[in-house]
Amino acid sequence: MNRPRVEIAPSILAANFAALGDEIRSIELGGAGLVHVDVMDGRFVPNISIGVPVVASLRKATRLPLDVHLMIVEPERYVEAFADAGADNITVHQEATCHLERVLSAIQQRKLGAGVALNPATPVATLCEVLDRVELVLVMSVNPGFGGQSFLPGSLNKIQQLRELRERYNYNFRIEVDGGIGAENAADVVRAGAEILVAGTSVFHTPDAAAAVRKLKQAGVEALAQKV
Ligand code: DX5
Ligand code: ZN
Repeated sequence: MNRPRVEIAPSILAANFAALGDEIRSIELGGAGLVHVDVMDGRFVPNISIGVPVVASLRKATRLPLDVHLMIVEPERYVEAFADAGADNITVHQEATCHLERVLSAIQQRKLGAGVALNPATPVATLCEVLDRVELVLVMSVNPGFGGQSFLPGSLNKIQQLRELRERYNYNFRIEVDGGIGAENAADVVRAGAEILVAGTSVFHTPDAAAAVRKLKQAGVEALAQKV
């Protein structure tokens, strides 16, 4: 498959919402590959964030793919709304639905990338029936709900397991890691097998978001070069 090997997906959860357009321009300038949008419902996670109207506004503000991470119960209820708003990928949590296959199919019927996310305590084995049909697997490296938490090192092993399964069975999904990612651990997650690095705090809580994206990407690309 022809695809870039490491991409940075800044999470706008950590951005200044009063100046979202400027924030997006900064990350574009820094070479971000996607815009990560964290949707929280106050039920699946103990926090409320943003939803459909923000995705629709972002769609008008950037050509970068919108990577929508649904931390909501029964995500099947909102696939259509986020698809209509302009999402490119929709990722749902394995733990949030009784009908994982159905919701993934609904996302793909809209010709969007279908992703499945795992909380830190959920094993990779719970995905064995869907790994052959998803575009994206998102490994949560913090407990979802809040930005600014510390990376859980056990995530590295899950990323490796996913990479090994993909190699063994020739699956096509990309591996995304989300939570506590910064320049200090970007190389580790890339060496483990991650290809999309979500980063909120380490990008937006800095004086220069563009430079922060560049730095993360450089760390990732260097780690890839060492790996080969
Ligand atoms: C956590 C979200 C993450 C988070 C990442 O629930 O899914 O995307 O915003 O933020 P940082 O990079 O600050 O851990
Ligand atoms: Zn996220």
